[in-house]
Amino acid sequence: MTLANTGGNRDSSRDFLAVNPVFVAEPVEVPRNSLPAGGLAPDVAYQIVHDELMLDGNARLNLATFVTTWMEPDARRLMAECFDKNMIDKDEYPRTAALEERCVRMLAELWHAPDASTAIGCSTTGSSEACMLAGLAMKRRWQHRTGGQGRPNIVMGANVQICWEKFANYWDVEARVVPMSGDRFHLTADEAVKYCDENTIGVVAVLGSTFDGSYEPVAEICAALDEHHPHVPVHVDGASGAMIAPFCDPGLEWDFRLSRVCSINTSGHKYGLVYPGVGWVVWRDTDALPEDLVFRVNYLGGDMPTFALNFSRPGAQVIAQYFTFLRLGFDGYQRVQQYCRDVATQLSGRIADLGPFRLLTRGDQLPVFAFTLADDVTGYSVFDVSAHLREAGWLVPAYTFPENRTDLSVLRVVVRNGMTHDLSDLFVADLRRVVQRLEQQEKPLRGKESSSFAHGT
Ligand SMILES: Cc1ncc(COP(=O)(O)O)c(C=O)c1O
Repeated sequence: MTLANTGGNRDSSRDFLAVNPVFVAEPVEVPRNSLPAGGLAPDVAYQIVHDELMLDGNARLNLATFVTTWMEPDARRLMAECFDKNMIDKDEYPRTAALEERCVRMLAELWHAPDASTAIGCSTTGSSEACMLAGLAMKRRWQHRTGGQGRPNIVMGANVQICWEKFANYWDVEARVVPMSGDRFHLTADEAVKYCDENTIGVVAVLGSTFDGSYEPVAEICAALDEHHPHVPVHVDGASGAMIAPFCDPGLEWDFRLSRVCSINTSGHKYGLVYPGVGWVVWRDTDALPEDLVFRVNYLGGDMPTFALNFSRPGAQVIAQYFTFLRLGFDGYQRVQQYCRDVATQLSGRIADLGPFRLLTRGDQLPVFAFTLADDVTGYSVFDVSAHLREAGWLVPAYTFPENRTDLSVLRVVVRNGMTHDLSDLFVADLRRVVQRLEQQEKPLRGKESSSFAHGT
């Protein structure tokens, strides 16, 4: 929910919406900010809303978001058939419930749970809800272990997505945030252990940092905890990477193969390749999810365990996830994700070759990379580059790194399914033109205040 401002900041000084005269013989007044007294014909209402939304950016050219912007027509059809299904109505929609369970088992197997048939997990609205649930399970386990004496804390790098700060704030857990330092832009094993103590409920390791697409060294973090803090579990925030690494880096141990990893989340709507509205969390076994957090809902006359923040939730996205698993299979996901990685690494290489840019990452972990301006570029800023790219239709965010590295401003490209080599050629051509134009400029025109980018969409 965005907190709507009911005071100033209105998007227009007009109190009434403009209605195309084709639709109405007489002028009609449709209030902009209050519930209209009467209704409109559906085609008129449709046109008004549709026309306003035309001003949203083109989702396919949005290189800022991690979230799926294209699905096949069959997926759309299936979703449309299921828009009326509520995920919580397990009794009424038992097949939808069964598909959710199958997805959980597929993910548990993909992430090497010791026994996929007993691993436990659920769908969520996205990774944020999944992280909240995983964090709550770690907090409850800490309470059981210690009797809840002292203040719990959670250890994470400054690069975590905002959902972890929310978790700590909403559930009264101290956020122990390991700052960035020099060229260390994510959590390392040495730093993680320094921040843990007897009240640490867990360490969050991010597989695929939102800031630069790099993987955190999950195995090293686990090994260091084995040595120094054996009671501290690790949650892997694989919002993006948990659907990349199994296909592109099968030899990398980051998942339940590491016994310290108690839970993993991913966003079905990121590299799970489903439209927005679905995430997943899986615990390695029933011990990792305390029984006293689980609620029971009626299911076929029996009771069905659930763990969720929401009650009602759309079922269509979960069904679309199952469709995508069937449609692509392991092979298909591997093809799609590897293609994204190839596009990302080639594109980052070509950007580096343009001259004025320095890469922070290459897109060889998540197909996501961050780059900044070379030190000798003084006439323009990354914010200028972002603004000029926007004129050509490309949405490429520019943002500043967090505390300790606020001096560093970068651009970030997220390569998703649908970003082809052809599109990336067009992108490089536009970027080259932007640079040529900006080279005429004497000093930067835009600073970080010009960026309204909300991290990690
Ligand atoms: C690492 C990480 N964790 C959590 C999230 C939140 O995910 P969601 O948007 O699915 O709630 C994101 C989003 O970008 C992310 O990158």
